[in-house]
Amino acid sequence: MSTAKKEYKRVTVKSLVDMKKHGEKISMLTAYDYSMAKIVDAAKVDVILVGDSASNVMAGYETTLPITLDQMIYHASSVLRAVKRALVVVDIPFGSYQSDPKEALRSAIRIMKESRAHAVKVEGGEEIKESVKRILNAGVPVMGHLGLTPQAIYKFGTYTVRAKEEEEAKKLIADAKLLERLGCFAIVLEKIPAELTKRVSESISIPTIGIGAGKHADGQVLVIHDLLGMTHEFNPRFLRRYMNLYEEMGNAISQYVDDVKSKDFPNDEEQY
Ligand code: KIV
Repeated sequence: MSTAKKEYKRVTVKSLVDMKKHGEKISMLTAYDYSMAKIVDAAKVDVILVGDSASNVMAGYETTLPITLDQMIYHASSVLRAVKRALVVVDIPFGSYQSDPKEALRSAIRIMKESRAHAVKVEGGEEIKESVKRILNAGVPVMGHLGLTPQAIYKFGTYTVRAKEEEEAKKLIADAKLLERLGCFAIVLEKIPAELTKRVSESISIPTIGIGAGKHADGQVLVIHDLLGMTHEFNPRFLRRYMNLYEEMGNAISQYVDDVKSKDFPNDEEQY
């Protein structure tokens, strides 16, 4: 298996399957606005997820449930205006695909048409298979999401690791195989044991992308605010912070306040 990295001018759903085949890990990060998406895309992240985690980090809700389809489209279209290379996947929000396959297709089509996204993501397996089929039949690429599925948080009751018991692990593997059979191009695995991620990744040919799912996933995803350390109260074991922007931004903003108060800003060179 070659580990040489191929250059992708434009990442497509097919590129991701190729990456898995060639043993190249897939990088995925969230973005929700134009300016951030420009930076993420220029850094050559393979997949940008306009996640419904926007509900948490952009809007300040406790869960992902309140965000609406219109709000997701607003975030997604801002991101799409910035992106030149990455594949952009958009979450279909809670309540817009679970109850009725026709509504699922309408939601997916609105996202694709109005934001110009490249693919959509949905949470669940067997329970939502008719919706997944309907969306795929219309030619819209679908990414699955199994394990801890935050849209079902009130069913789980907590954000702890999922599928530690064999019965739930078996269902997860069956769901992953089902999503592959239906035609999904990749599956996010959230907060499951690393050994289960290995079993899933070895049993399907489409890539798995993990968050809190260990090193055996074919790719990794994080929420950009967590990676940059903008969120500071959220400290799960799986999170690697690459910056402490909460502190750095706070220091910069305090300095600005001091400079205004002390009449240091603006100085003679900073005025017309
Ligand atoms: O909404 C989101 O950010 C996600 C990732 C955590 C995978 O679904």
